[in-house]
Amino acid sequence: MPNQTVAVLGLGAMGSAITARLRDTGYDTVVWNRTAAKAAPHAEAGSRAAATVAEAAELSDIVLVVLFDHASVREHLEPIAADLKGKTVVNVTTTTPNEARSTAAWAAEQGLTYLDGAIMATPDMIGTPYSRFLYSGDRGAYDTAREALETLGAADYEGEDAGLASLKDMALLTAMYQMFSGFMQAAAMMRTVGVPASQTAGEVAGWLGAILPHTESFAAVIDDRDFSAGQSVDFTRAAVGSLITASREQGVSADFLEPLLSRLDELSATGRGGVNWVSVNEQLAIG
Ligand SMILES: NC(=O)c1ccc[n+]([C@@H]2O[C@H](COP(=O)([O-])OP(=O)(O)OC[C@H]3O[C@@H](n4cnc5c(N)ncnc54)[C@H](OP(=O)(O)O)[C@@H]3O)[C@@H](O)[C@H]2O)c1
Repeated sequence: MPNQTVAVLGLGAMGSAITARLRDTGYDTVVWNRTAAKAAPHAEAGSRAAATVAEAAELSDIVLVVLFDHASVREHLEPIAADLKGKTVVNVTTTTPNEARSTAAWAAEQGLTYLDGAIMATPDMIGTPYSRFLYSGDRGAYDTAREALETLGAADYEGEDAGLASLKDMALLTAMYQMFSGFMQAAAMMRTVGVPASQTAGEVAGWLGAILPHTESFAAVIDDRDFSAGQSVDFTRAAVGSLITASREQGVSADFLEPLLSRLDELSATGRGGVNWVSVNEQLAIG
């Protein structure tokens, strides 16, 4: 039986799934939620319900924070800094990299042991082989909590910069939302001729699955910074232009594609129409 007690702060969909998994794998769990009623089913299932965040911290070795956002995390951790001393605080609430760094810096000022994290899973995936969590910051905190964290999913340590887990989370979610935006537009185009989205979904999944390995060859071009060969900017401009025209012809907005065409237009206008279109990657840096 695991000998650490884990307090879970936040019993939304994710905090509840995490608590259930920890309990099912033999952990002593303490729960706290702003709306206290959500703790009742967990108490019935064997967790201890704490009346306050301070009490939850006091009863535990690891404090796992699964709140809504950065502001809610700071709102509830700052007043109990003294109670968190000697505990391992692991915050898996979704935040930006700089928010993660800010909370890590605050924790260091308070003398707390703090690890930041990001969840690459939905609640139903917790504890399954498809669940992955990313962690960054204090390596010692990771080592202390690792066994408990591994019950939730793969527990990958990204490095000492506390923002790294969030950064990878945000980068992967950026790719995901752009991909799903593509599906939204494809489904809207096909619906104009009566094809249900469910049918387009299958087509899109098959096509994207076949084409996705191309990211590897794009990555090689980006890393080598050799844009001399490959599909050109001008070829791609024509292709994307056709997609925009086709979408509009069907009465569907091409808003999601237009920014890409603008980037390609810029490259072409500055004499780079013949280089590999993957060079759009270099245009994205604004800092
Ligand atoms: N669900 C997912 O698929 C998923 C996937 C990856 C990451 N995440 C991340 O996991 C975290 C929790 O998500 P969730 O799915 O559990 O969300 P949720 O079901 O909407 O639950 C939100 C939780 O945050 C609490 N909360 C919100 N504002 C608060 C405040 N000001 N003070 C105290 N507690 C507050 C809520 O308490 P009340 O019950 O009192 O409202 C509730 O416990 C988020 O950062 C989310 O981005 C979720």
